[in-house]
Formats: sequence, structure tokens, C-alpha cells
Amino acid sequence: MEAACRVTVVVLGTLAVLIHLVQAQDQQGFISLDCGLPAEELSSPYDEPSTGLRFSSDAAYIQSGQTGSIQPNRESQYLKPYRRLRYFPNGSRNCYNLNVEKGSKYLVRAFFVYENYDGLNIKPKFDLYLGPNLWSTIDFQEPEEDVRRVEMLHIPTSNSLQICLVKNGTTTPLISTLEIRPVKTTIYETVSGSLNLYLRTFFNKSDTYIRYPSDRYDRVWTSYSSYFRNEWIQIFTTLQVEVNNLENYYDPPNAALTSAATPTNSNLPLMINWTSSNVDNQYYFYTHFAEIQELQTNDTREFSIVWNGEVLRRQFIPPKFSAFSLYRSSPSTCEGGKCSLQLIRTNTSTLPPLINALEVYTVIHFSQSETNENDVVSVQNIKTSYRISKNSWQGDPCVPQQLMWEGLNCRITDKSTPPRITYL
Ligand SMILES: *[C@@H]1O[C@H](CO)[C@@H](O)[C@H](O)[C@H]1NC(C)=O
Ligand SMILES: *[C@@H]1O[C@H](CO)[C@@H](O)[C@H](O)[C@H]1NC(C)=O
Ligand SMILES: *[C@@H]1O[C@H](CO)[C@@H](O)[C@H](O)[C@H]1NC(C)=O
Ligand SMILES: *[C@@H]1O[C@H](CO)[C@@H](O)[C@H](O)[C@H]1NC(C)=O
Ligand SMILES: *[C@@H]1O[C@H](CO)[C@@H](O)[C@H](O)[C@H]1NC(C)=O
Ligand SMILES: *[C@@H]1O[C@H](CO)[C@@H](O)[C@H](O)[C@H]1NC(C)=O
Repeated sequence: MEAACRVTVVVLGTLAVLIHLVQAQDQQGFISLDCGLPAEELSSPYDEPSTGLRFSSDAAYIQSGQTGSIQPNRESQYLKPYRRLRYFPNGSRNCYNLNVEKGSKYLVRAFFVYENYDGLNIKPKFDLYLGPNLWSTIDFQEPEEDVRRVEMLHIPTSNSLQICLVKNGTTTPLISTLEIRPVKTTIYETVSGSLNLYLRTFFNKSDTYIRYPSDRYDRVWTSYSSYFRNEWIQIFTTLQVEVNNLENYYDPPNAALTSAATPTNSNLPLMINWTSSNVDNQYYFYTHFAEIQELQTNDTREFSIVWNGEVLRRQFIPPKFSAFSLYRSSPSTCEGGKCSLQLIRTNTSTLPPLINALEVYTVIHFSQSETNENDVVSVQNIKTSYRISKNSWQGDPCVPQQLMWEGLNCRITDKSTPPRITYL
């Protein structure tokens, strides 16, 4: 199921069923950048019609790169923000600078759509950095798909968020959108580190997705569709599932709760398992349950929730038409990279277990400190006053060391000490 965290094209497509949008809800604090969109008044900003999200040009947030568009015959597969892109033939590191609030929590997401925009049919591979730290490698070579998504829940350590595309090899980095959403700090808490999205799904067999405005945080939920196991059946309700956001801070969207998977053989557990090649991954997961069938008075649905053999709940009864979110408050690794979530019917239960939605994240530690804030301000001032437009003068001035700004000297000690600029 490593592959289950991949996005299918439909994630960006016009095929979403859930369009019950009229006036846009509150998008306060959202940053939605359509990379490569011209900054002219008439084109930016615009409201994407199916989501209501207000997208703007990225031009004010980056000084480099060129703009392109995916092949015209592929455009109909994508919503407008995903058709254009910015690519970076020059410079080994190109960075976006976004204003955020230090100490607040954000969902930070980027989409990358290749679709042969350059007519060369060379699938790119490059790195994505958050400030001085590697976040992810964007590799279009494997598997054969033209869309990549990365997403994390992160608390910035300063008021600016630097997202950098870094060349590693000969291919040209590109980016289609940047999407930043503020999230309550009291949810998705970790012992340490940020959360990198591995999987966010709801158990529906159809090929679709849910996002804003159904999800107030614009989390993108993809249906389990082709991963839906033969030994499961899908149940569905047309009734509302209540989400009391005073009790359930995770606030999963109603649409992600109205369907569920349950085992066909009601005596067998419902098992969700995957194997990761990275055996050191530390996981956090969030399961969302709701009873969505009208039960007879003599019926009960009760099961235990078991993660990697550890019983998290012994006799769980999903609340009727109301969401309950269950998670483990500390991270765990999976032995040999094999992870399993099992829902096991109790002896007294007359009905098999069910699950409505599931999120899985891995912990990511950004251990390299950013360069001393005062030093950065001074060197930025020099850059502005002398109108220095060296391509290498982007991102953190000192780190990572191989990308240090040309003409600078830095004192870099250990990762937890902010580097100092010693010479200019
Ligand atoms: C790349 O950089 C070179 C030298 O800095 C400059 O002459 C050229 O115009 C740049 N090309 C692009 C596509 O920005
Ligand atoms: C860059 O590419 C090389 C060769 O593929 C790889 O060994 C290295 O880990 C990559 N570096 C990063 C930061 O991804
Ligand atoms: C889930 O599947 C049902 C059909 O079984 C469909 O009617 C419904 O629209 C789907 N729900 C979502 C949220 O896509
Ligand atoms: C899931 O578990 C079953 C039964 O133990 C096993 O046969 C299967 O290979 C596992 N799948 C993955 C992806 O690990
Ligand atoms: C519950 O009652 C219905 C009829 O009232 C009956 O058909 C069904 O078999 C009963 N279920 C159980 C588990 O006893
Ligand atoms: C269920 O029943 C079996 C045998 O009847 C018993 O061994 C087991 O302990 C029971 N499990 C629970 C959770 O009560």
C-alpha cells in the first residue's frame, strides 16, 4: 500500500462529486498560489469555480524561474490551478518565501504536474527543501504518473516559510501549486517533529475525492477506490453524519463519513496493512468512525482496535451517525516495515466492524537550524540595497553547506546551532 499515498489524476480533476458550493466559506489565512500564473490584474486572483478557492499568481513570492503550461490536450483532466506551472532551468536552488505566523500550525501542500509541458518527455527528478532541510524528493520516473503531491503539518520556527526546489542531477524542477492552510494547534500534535502525509482516505469504492469547502481545512481525502479489498463490502448512508466539533476537534468532513468498509465475512477481522521500504518510519494515524446503519434493537456492533498487535480499544462501539476519531498520542514504528491496523469483532457483537476514514502520517524531523535571524536580515538588506540578483542568493544563506550563497562565509557548528555569517 505504499502506492496508496500516491495521488491519482482525479485528485485534481473536475470529476469530484462533492460540489455543493455557493458562497465561499471563510478562507482566512489560506495561501493558494497558482504557480506560473501571470500577475496581471485580470488573471490574478481568481476563484476556482468547483472549490471556491481563491488562487493568486506566485510572482510576488519568487524572483526566478519561467512559466509554462501542460499540453493542451491534457488540460481537461485538471482544474485550472494545476494546468500552469513554474520551472527552473537556472540555478541549483530556487525558493518561495511565504509569510506565516511563527508557532502556528499549518498544512503545507504542493502539487507538481508534469504532463510534458516542455515537449521533451523527460520525467524530472529533484528535491524539495523546507528552509535548509530536505522535505521530499519529487520523482516522476517511478511510478508512471504525471502528478505528485506532498503535504505536511508543520509549525514554522520563524515568520517566513521558505520552500525551495533544488536540482539534483540534470532534470529541471517544476511546481504547479502551493497551498498553505492554518490548522488548530491542538490537533495532530506530535511528541516532536512535523507530520508528513502518507495516506488520507475514506472508504468508498468510487473514484473521487473530498476537499474544501466540504473540509474546512482543505485536507484532500481520496477515496480508497482501487485499493478497496475484495473481502470487504462498502456500506453507505444518505443521512447526515453529525460532527460535533466541540467534542471531535479533528472535524472530519461529513462526506468522508457517510461510507464505510466492513468485512464480507462477518466473522473475520477487517485488516488494513502495508509494507514500507523505510523500516525506520515513525507513524501517527487517525481513524474516524461512525455507525451509519440503522441497527435493530437486538443488534450490536462492537469491536476492538488493534495496531501492530497492540490493543488500543477493547470494546469500541461506533457512535450512531456521529463521528468519533481515535488516534495514538505517541508515534510508533512497524516491525520490519510491516504495519497493520486490525478491527476485530467482539464475542458479543452481532455485526462486523467498520471503518469510515483513515489518515496516516510519518514523522519528519527538520533538524538543521536556520541561519541566525539577525544575520539573515543584514544580508537580505545588503542584497536589496545593492540590488544583487545572483541566482545563488536564495533560501537560507549558509545551509545546506553545498548551497551556501556565493561569496559568503559561514560558521556552521552542529545542526542545532543556528549558523552565523562570518564574512561577506
Ligand atoms: C540563466 O542565467 C543566465 C546567467 O545568469 C542568464 O543569462 C539567463 O538569461 C538565464 N536564463 C533564464 C532562462 O533565466
Ligand atoms: C541526489 O542524487 C544522488 C544520486 O541519485 C543521491 O544519492 C542523493 O541522495 C541525492 N540527494 C538528495 C539530497 O536527494
Ligand atoms: C460513495 O459511494 C456511493 C455509492 O456506493 C456514492 O453514491 C457516493 O456518492 C459515494 N460517496 C462519496 C463521498 O463519494
Ligand atoms: C497484509 O497481510 C496479509 C496477511 O498477513 C499478507 O498476506 C499481505 O502480504 C500483507 N500485505 C502487505 C502489503 O503487507
Ligand atoms: C433480530 O431480530 C430480527 C427480527 O426481529 C431477526 O430477524 C434477527 O435474526 C435478530 N438478530 C439476532 C442477532 O438475533
Ligand atoms: C471470546 O470467546 C472465546 C471462546 O468462547 C474466549 O476464549 C475469548 O476469551 C473471548 N474473548 C473475549 C474478548 O471475550
